Amino acid sequence: MTDYTPVKADKFAFGLWTVGWQGVDPFGGATRDPLDVGEALHKLSDMGAWGLTFHDDDLIPFGTDVPERERIISRFRSLLDETGMVVPMVTTNLFSHPVFKEGGLTANDRQVRRFSLAKVRRNIDLAASLGAKTYVVWGGREGSESDVAKDVPSALNRYAEGLNTLCEYVTEQGYDIKFALEPKPNEPRGDILLPTIGHAIAFIDRLAYPDMVGVNPEVGHEEMASMNFTQGIAQALWSGKLFHIDLNGQKGPRFDQDLRFGSGNIKGAFSLVDLLEHGTLDGGPGYDGPKHFDFKAPRTEGPEGVWDSAAGCMRNYLIFRERARNFRADPRVQEALLEAKVAELAVPTLAPGETLDTLRDESYDPDALGKREVYIERLDQLFMDHLLGAV
Ligand code: GCO
Ligand code: MN
Ligand code: MN
Repeated sequence: MTDYTPVKADKFAFGLWTVGWQGVDPFGGATRDPLDVGEALHKLSDMGAWGLTFHDDDLIPFGTDVPERERIISRFRSLLDETGMVVPMVTTNLFSHPVFKEGGLTANDRQVRRFSLAKVRRNIDLAASLGAKTYVVWGGREGSESDVAKDVPSALNRYAEGLNTLCEYVTEQGYDIKFALEPKPNEPRGDILLPTIGHAIAFIDRLAYPDMVGVNPEVGHEEMASMNFTQGIAQALWSGKLFHIDLNGQKGPRFDQDLRFGSGNIKGAFSLVDLLEHGTLDGGPGYDGPKHFDFKAPRTEGPEGVWDSAAGCMRNYLIFRERARNFRADPRVQEALLEAKVAELAVPTLAPGETLDTLRDESYDPDALGKREVYIERLDQLFMDHLLGAV
């Protein structure tokens, strides 16, 4: 029996807001007590996690005065030293306070946009001082419930203006930080701007400093929109834009469930880990950044259940990783990949020097091609066998 114990080299990270979620939902209040950041760091470190991430307000409550803010930060630094935990990513809360009810960087009200940028800047300074390399921008309130109340081109211009300004700031300060946009189709807004990985990548191409901006896709968010997450991640890798990732679980298109990684679409989770670990057949790279869990232990759970759930996220990743390695190493799989011609797709359709005229002069047998076996079910069942341990 394999040992699925996480180690720091696995680069597993958790949001402070994930293990600290008290279970407040639209229908009921907290079912759990607040979690002290010291306990979170010690517990996660003991469990083999490597990093802790946070929104500004998770660590330093909104409105905290300067001396208290300094005290919180200096205690946090000591706790990091004590536990050996790192802060790979930081993000801003532009959604909880009522000031953000109509948006942050894309609010119709200009004063709100100016306040939002100032809030991000202050937290970027903290992120840089803690050594964070990624700054996530999740625009949960950037959107609308009413199409007539939000001029989308203007909103995208303001979003771009905000990001361009922040990129300039980071460059001027000499910070080693890149931005990662996190798409989500809806919730809390009725419709959110940049709803999917594809929208975000297309938007990044129009920015002033596109190399400084990538994506932070979340499993559940793409699946809320009925998207295939593995396919979206493959395109993000192909575009060189997978700067960070939020791993969790989701059961199809419904509210954002933030289940522990591996729950919900288990086959999708397996193909995701296979892709992250092994890259693509044409030699495209996998992903070696932080594996960041953005999950919420269901509000049914007490404090022990939270750690069970956090441990489950890491354990499931390690199980998938082991099985994906076995899958790739299995000679029957290699044969099945050949039969299904998976690698043939990496061969250009035209050889060097060939043109469309070459194709015109070639003879084809479409009927025979139409009758060929493609052997995908055979390959896919081997994938299932490995996922389910029936090998
Ligand atoms: C969600 C989002 C958030 C963001 C986080 C980063 O579940 O709706 O994932 O949790 O990831 O707030 O800003
Ligand atoms: Mn989510
Ligand atoms: Mn997330």
